[in-house]
Amino acid sequence: MDTLTQNQLCADGITRRYGSFVALDNVSIDVRKGEFLTLLGPSGSGKTTLLMILAGFTEPSTGRLFKEGVDITRRPPEKRNFGMVFQGYALFPHMSVFDNVAFGLRIRKVDAAARRQRVMRMLETVGLTAHAHKRPHELSGGQQQRVAIARALVFEPDLLLLDEPLSALDKNMREQLQAELRRIHQQVGTTFVFVTHDQEEALALSTRIAIFNKGQLMQIDTPEQIYMRPASRFVGEFLGKMNVFGFDAQREDGAHTVGRHGDIVLRALSCAGAALGAKVLAVRPEHMTLHVEPPRESGHNVVAGTIVERTFQGSRTALAVRTGSDAAPAHTLIDVPLGHPVQALGREARVWLSWCPSNSMLLDA
Ligand SMILES: Nc1ncnc2c1ncn2[C@@H]1O[C@H](COP(=O)(O)OP(=O)(O)O)[C@@H](O)[C@H]1O
Ligand SMILES: [Mg+2]
Repeated sequence: MDTLTQNQLCADGITRRYGSFVALDNVSIDVRKGEFLTLLGPSGSGKTTLLMILAGFTEPSTGRLFKEGVDITRRPPEKRNFGMVFQGYALFPHMSVFDNVAFGLRIRKVDAAARRQRVMRMLETVGLTAHAHKRPHELSGGQQQRVAIARALVFEPDLLLLDEPLSALDKNMREQLQAELRRIHQQVGTTFVFVTHDQEEALALSTRIAIFNKGQLMQIDTPEQIYMRPASRFVGEFLGKMNVFGFDAQREDGAHTVGRHGDIVLRALSCAGAALGAKVLAVRPEHMTLHVEPPRESGHNVVAGTIVERTFQGSRTALAVRTGSDAAPAHTLIDVPLGHPVQALGREARVWLSWCPSNSMLLDA
């Protein structure tokens, strides 16, 4: 497909400085038409700064922004036709839900009949038809946030920018609204650019995730690819739990790289062309099996350890296992289901962890 039509928005080499501080560092990112793109990263990583640059409220220090191939770097926010939803709902407290959603249309002189039709259609989309007459204070936080979404979408923007819209809500409400947001996105088909610092939220909602750290774009891909094939230790550890072992990569053996973790030999999936030497071998906890006796399956990586912590979590128990030697210490996390034989063992029980080499990733240390 032609990249100009496929990419609705292109940020090209965007840097934003505040004095000598670099809030965004040479970020290039494409937003594809109709996708749900999530900007994910720790607090202070530059997510809001990028969203504000896309919206036009902040100017980049260098770099350019294109909308469907047209340079809009200097175009004011009101001429971009992007909708915005912020963390605080900022609804008009004295106006009904209906009037809150209708407000912008009234300013734009959309006539009353068309206004009514568009507002009611939008309230139906966000599931608030029965609440049209209420004031914001009569609504729950989640309902207020849905009003904010309706208010942003009623203009039929080309792009909806959302900055941590769910982070003020409690866990249940947040999960409910995530499902709602996904449904709304599918129903209206508008491109969403969504900011969050919540990894699970990003995994649950996104077509693609862009991961930021210290102003830099670390990786952008589908949730599955980023989770299964993180490009760096930072990304792997930021998105989900990951166990890492110091690893001295020594030789290639078919599809695997063979190396040492202290005095143990381990194997990892080879990365084509990667250099040997000091690395980390990373494994997701769900790819590891916990044994109460030395396992016998051949061809698997096996590491012995001692349980140092148990956290009961209902259907599962989270274990922390100290593995390795003083020379190559590692702290490994793994969950076991209720009734696992390890639960019959004492506090500092000796255990073994095994996993298939194909599930180990080699990352730079
Ligand atoms: N107007 C500003 N003046 C100075 N520093 C700023 C300004 N806006 C943001 N920053 C800094 O830029 C960095 C990125 O901020 P921000 O984009 O808000 O991060 P995030 O949304 O990922 O938490 C932070 O360290 C923040 O303090
Ligand atoms: Mg922010």
